[in-house]
Amino acid sequence: MIHTALTDLLGIDAPLVGFNRSPAVVAEVSKAGGLGVLAVSAYSPAELDAQLTWIEEQVQGRPYGVDLLVPGNTTNGDPSDLVASLRAQIPDQHREFIAGLLRRYDIPEEANAEGRVMSEFAANLDPSRVTPLLDVVFSHRIALFANALGTPPPEVLERARSAGVVVASLVGKPEHARRQLDTGVDVLVAQGTEAGGHTGTIASTVLTPEIVDLAGDVPVLAAGGIATGRQMAAALALGAAGVWCGSVWLSSHEASPPRS
Ligand SMILES: Cc1cc2nc3c(=O)[nH]c(=O)nc-3n(C[C@H](O)[C@H](O)[C@H](O)COP(=O)(O)O)c2cc1C
Repeated sequence: MIHTALTDLLGIDAPLVGFNRSPAVVAEVSKAGGLGVLAVSAYSPAELDAQLTWIEEQVQGRPYGVDLLVPGNTTNGDPSDLVASLRAQIPDQHREFIAGLLRRYDIPEEANAEGRVMSEFAANLDPSRVTPLLDVVFSHRIALFANALGTPPPEVLERARSAGVVVASLVGKPEHARRQLDTGVDVLVAQGTEAGGHTGTIASTVLTPEIVDLAGDVPVLAAGGIATGRQMAAALALGAAGVWCGSVWLSSHEASPPRS
């Protein structure tokens, strides 16, 4: 067993966080002594309630967490502005690469999902959708709340504090980390460019020690390209208090939808 600031903070056996959209992966990671974290943005409140109840039945008191895209302000603000600014950051080179892949493998153009994914993303950020999900999340006994994008709004931090829930935030560069530390988050996840999903441009081996140096006593988890024990050991050697893994679970039995 490896003890770090993260294992002490969360009362887990291994400094490993498993992020996934499948409740089965989350439950297995927590049962194995790590911390499973469920990505919850895509659920309806009723579905989410049922899934968190199921996870709690499986983990039998072991800690688990959730990850939700909460815009900096849950009461106003237009998510479509954020989406427009994100779309503007997608380089033409990337769009050409995707179009080339579609042509090469004879995939119909409508499979190019940028517009659809971006509309779903905007819908997920709508305060009228996020607030009921927060109510569900904080009605369960989660151990960790991760904010997927930007700094958590003050009301989320207050709810987490009063429920004794650890708040984590994903960061891709030092200025993100400084902002999160000023907000008062408990754990930073240094997500390198190798990570699946939305990432920055700094490699994990460069980003992790940089964030560790900034973070002082706040535990830092390394994320991005970590899928083996050797990579986990390297992250700990860089000063991380643990690792946050996503892609490694995608091919696991528990992440697969049931076969009909
Ligand atoms: C398919 C996929 C979807 C993701 N979606 C989210 C998300 O909704 N919220 C979030 O905070 N991180 C998301 N991530 C990033 C993970 O939290 C994590 O930082 C990343 O997977 C770590 O790098 P790795 O994939 O190399 O293990 C996603 C990652 C993957 C692979």
